[in-house]
Amino acid sequence: MNRSPALYVARFVFALAAVASDCAWAADAKIAAGASIYGNYCSNCHGDELRNTSGGATFDLTRLRPADHDRFVNSVLNGKTQMPPWRGVLDMEQIESIWSFIRATADR
Ligand code: HEC
Repeated sequence: MNRSPALYVARFVFALAAVASDCAWAADAKIAAGASIYGNYCSNCHGDELRNTSGGATFDLTRLRPADHDRFVNSVLNGKTQMPPWRGVLDMEQIESIWSFIRATADR
């Protein structure tokens, strides 16, 4: 019956650390997936690695702020003037992973 509270604390901290590293791993995987989808579908117009070199012809995606998430999804699904719509081409998971990639790059 004489079990040390320190043991419980240690177990708790260990469990927390395990959950946190799992999340970090999942987030990294999502960003990597987004980077690759971006490279396949978007970089032609928006520039390699989000470096917009179009001289203003296309939108610089690193200018999107975290609060612009819904605008991002809407523009990607429905297109905008010269920008083709991606509805039916990319699914929501792919679009969200591109968003993660943009955030990871722009918020750095
Ligand atoms: C054929 C070239 C082209 C491709 C490919 C392209 N875009 Fe665009 N994109 C544009 C142009 C041009 C604009 C500027 C549209 C405007 O504001 O008139 C734009 C604008 C945007 C905007 C901003 C729209 C807004 O709300 O102002 C987002 C977000 C965007 N693109 C995301 C993407 C993503 C994500 C991909 C890849 C799935 C992609 N684009 C692929 C040409 C392209």
